[in-house]
Amino acid sequence: MPENPTRPATAAYLTARGFCLTSAAWMMMATLVGFIAALELVAPDLTANISWLLFSRLRPIHVNLVLFGFVTPGLLAGAFYFVPRLLRTELYSEKLGIVTVILWNMALVATMVTLAAGLTQGREYAEMIWPIDAGIVTAFCLIFFNFIMTVKHRNEKILYVSVWYALAAVALTTCTYCLGNVVWKPDSGSLTGIPDAILLWFYGHNVFGLLLTPLSAAAAYYIIPQVCRSPLYSHTLSLLGFWSLIVIYTHIGTHHLLQVPVPTWLKVVAIVDSIAMVIPVMAFLINIWYTARGKLGLIHGDIGGKFIFTGTIMYFIVSILGSLMALPDVQRVTHFNHWVVGHAHIGVLGFSGMIALGGLYFIIPRITGKPLFSLFLADLQYWMILIGVSGFAIVLTISGLIQGHAWLNGETVYRVLSEIHIYNIIRAALGLLIFLSAVSGFYNIFRSVFSNPGENP
Ligand code: HEM
Ligand code: HEM
Repeated sequence: MPENPTRPATAAYLTARGFCLTSAAWMMMATLVGFIAALELVAPDLTANISWLLFSRLRPIHVNLVLFGFVTPGLLAGAFYFVPRLLRTELYSEKLGIVTVILWNMALVATMVTLAAGLTQGREYAEMIWPIDAGIVTAFCLIFFNFIMTVKHRNEKILYVSVWYALAAVALTTCTYCLGNVVWKPDSGSLTGIPDAILLWFYGHNVFGLLLTPLSAAAAYYIIPQVCRSPLYSHTLSLLGFWSLIVIYTHIGTHHLLQVPVPTWLKVVAIVDSIAMVIPVMAFLINIWYTARGKLGLIHGDIGGKFIFTGTIMYFIVSILGSLMALPDVQRVTHFNHWVVGHAHIGVLGFSGMIALGGLYFIIPRITGKPLFSLFLADLQYWMILIGVSGFAIVLTISGLIQGHAWLNGETVYRVLSEIHIYNIIRAALGLLIFLSAVSGFYNIFRSVFSNPGENP
């Protein structure tokens, strides 16, 4: 899709700027918490039972801050830039956008404070208590309203696939968030027994499948053709990928519960559709990779394109791993151990986190009208994250295999701890690298958005 030549590149884009800073700031906090949690796995007595630093409190803080503090706002920053541009109009309301950014940040602060204080619903990815849920759902509704009104006032008849993905991600997540957090039961935020587990993982999986994946795809579909200066390989394929993602991804949450007494038919649906995920995944990847065919030099020369293209390779890896992990025979080894944590970091950091950062570095020069404060720092962050996440993948997979085979042989947890100790140390060291990359990234993004001495290009 061509850029709109009539729109000044220096238009305010206040909402996009707000989400850029949100993402960069919370990435620092989230990775710091992840790093402390990793240190505790190396030295369990490190924080000597300070209640708010217990591993059980740090873990949900880390996970929720990476998902809702770093990755989602990073991807939303991109969407707040490209949705109006693709529709050849202004964002419906920048004021509403800024209110949304403030509300979003208030919810994140409340998340951190309440989880540290031990106030939790105790359900993975749905830990936040009801008032925070209300804030998050309101923020999603405001974003959807802003986007849909922008669509209504558009000057472009055709809705490019990135607009489809961005709108679907926000609309569907509003619904699945309410379902997964059982918002109609504010006191517990849960059902009971097996139905609760099924509903929770329907939602938990959709955080990746219907929020992070479509927002990441939206950014890649917009940015890769721009960087390659060529049209998208196939619009038909992009819509096939969109609809197959919506149809298939919504059915596979139960692959998290293969070891649980849920109905067998539900497990079969989840396993079959986990394999069928190859359709939307490859439809997306073939489209992006064919668009970039012969243009790798251009991608290498653009920091945003570089992050995003690497993100697509990580998507390929995480999806192959995911489909394999959904096979019961494989999951007997990979469940309940570091293998899954490795898969999670390849997906959330390697795929959507990389694409979120790529989106930020692509849009910042365009929303400020100036080059990045430091291309060197952005490139450094790229390499630090690539080394960090590849290292995570290797050490967590190895230690997961050690743990998984130990469980199969009836070994007890404590006897395996010494065998995976070295991997926990390497993982903490790699985590420090990623945290430092987040600090340098925040400095670079803050300076680029607020106090950039660079000249207009
Ligand atoms: C074809 C695509 C994918 C399939 C079939 C798939 C499959 C799976 C399976 C079977 C598990 C559960 C493993 C277990 O508990 O034993 C899992 C966990 C997970 N997946 Fe994926 N995955 C896919 C893509 C992704 C992507 C793209 C992301 C990130 C954006 C992601 C993030 C995660 C995370 C964070 C977990 C850990 C959940 C937990 O806390 O237990 N996955 N995946
Ligand atoms: C922005 C980058 C990061 C993202 C997107 C991310 C994402 C995640 C996710 C989705 C999980 C849940 C995994 C699961 O349940 O299977 C997780 C867990 C975890 N992450 Fe990260 N993470 C990031 C950086 C880090 C860093 C730098 C460290 C430091 C070493 C770290 C350490 C951990 C630890 C210790 C856990 C808990 C694993 C467990 O329960 O055994 N993460 N992270």
